[in-house]
Amino acid sequence: MSKTVQIIDPQTGKQTDLPLREPTLGAPAIEIAKLPRELGYWTYDPGFGATASCQSDITYIDGDKGILLYRGYPIDQLAEKSNFMEVAYLLLYGDLPSQREFECFDREVRQHTMVHEAVRYFLEGFHYDAHPMAMLMGVVGSLAGFYHDSLDMFNPADRNLSAIRMIAKMPTIAALAYRRSIGWPAVYPKNSLDFSERLLDMMFSVPSEPYEINPVAAKALNLLFILHADHEQNASTSTVRLVGSTGANPYACVAAGIGALWGPAHGGANEAVLKMLDEIGHVDRVPEFIARAKDKDDPFRLMGFGHRVYKNYDPRAAIIRSMCHEVLNDLGIDDPMLDLAMELERIALEDEYFIERKLYPNVDFYSGIIYKALNIPVNMFTVMFTIARTAGWVAHWLEQHETPDARIGRPRQVYTGHDTRDYVPMDQR
Ligand code: CMC
Repeated sequence: MSKTVQIIDPQTGKQTDLPLREPTLGAPAIEIAKLPRELGYWTYDPGFGATASCQSDITYIDGDKGILLYRGYPIDQLAEKSNFMEVAYLLLYGDLPSQREFECFDREVRQHTMVHEAVRYFLEGFHYDAHPMAMLMGVVGSLAGFYHDSLDMFNPADRNLSAIRMIAKMPTIAALAYRRSIGWPAVYPKNSLDFSERLLDMMFSVPSEPYEINPVAAKALNLLFILHADHEQNASTSTVRLVGSTGANPYACVAAGIGALWGPAHGGANEAVLKMLDEIGHVDRVPEFIARAKDKDDPFRLMGFGHRVYKNYDPRAAIIRSMCHEVLNDLGIDDPMLDLAMELERIALEDEYFIERKLYPNVDFYSGIIYKALNIPVNMFTVMFTIARTAGWVAHWLEQHETPDARIGRPRQVYTGHDTRDYVPMDQR
């Protein structure tokens, strides 16, 4: 017999048994769908801190223990042994691929790396100093107009092709947006290169001289992409799912997700961290900024710190932190910003305010230092995150369309406006 939770309304004495939805890992969820009908109440949960919006097989987080699993595989094992293409396959299809499955998938992605030539002209329409996230959002939204041959959302083959196209084209669009912003000519994707190498080539090579891909940079990007690939029902993935629930095309869903990711409380934090470290400038000023972060009258927050789910060290931040040392070492870079970041972390982690609230560095705290070492400009940091998270977004979008009881996302509200009142003609107001 399935488990239930009994809810009794002390006001009316009415009671109801609500079913429990059992997970593989983590806490069960109380199914509240019949609560309004049976007891006459909505539930109120701004920010969805206590609400499971869907059932998913893709990613699991234990925020107290600092655990992150993609399809059951611990993130540290994937970071050490896998590559981004394999992780994308895992997220999309549920299992690690065989050699043959991997080759087919990888080949398919490589076949779709080009974008319609008109996309380049579309990018030309942006002002030269437009933020690349704005360009990405606009261009991805426009793709439905270019690839309407495969937009039948009831057709699994169309859905799969859209997912592949999205993963394949995102780096191409990102690089085009970057080159547009610096006035460099477009570089077409070289499909002989792997995912990260191809991106580096599209971003940094020039027609006038040979460009050699730095294997340290390619390896670092590959690792960062694995770590950023998915994170269950975060704000941007929930946005993709909410838009997806209306039956909208995948490009519209992902464009909306890009908009959500751009915010500084979410993926925009990696850009904000670098700007913050720049502003702090020297370790001597760390206490001043820690004091500001604690001051409730100051809107300043320590960027790259805190997380809705992790109440422990973000496992991704731990990996990126040690990778930071490795990458800077390998590239022969001595960046004082890393010392500054480590000092900021040390002081914050000893401070009662941060200890009490369980605020630890998150994935964005150290990633910017690596991007900076790879010569990736600050306004492209969130674009890098987008390239990786696209795999997660499309995996969730595919899963959503395979869920039999999926419904349009339509939350309710607690109305606090005026009671009913009569219209007053303008001359009597
Ligand atoms: N600096 C100072 N105080 C903080 C911070 C911070 N970075 N984060 C949370 N707090 C405080 C907050 O003021 C609150 O204090 P009190 O209980 O006294 O009111 C308490 O900690 C709980 O914070 P919250 O805002 O209720 O937590 P949340 O779960 O709603 O927000 C967060 C999570 C990530 C938006 C927030 O921690 C934050 O703004 N962090 C900085 C931005 C950032 O690094 N974002 C990246 C998140 S990870 C990557 C991603 O999602 O893409």
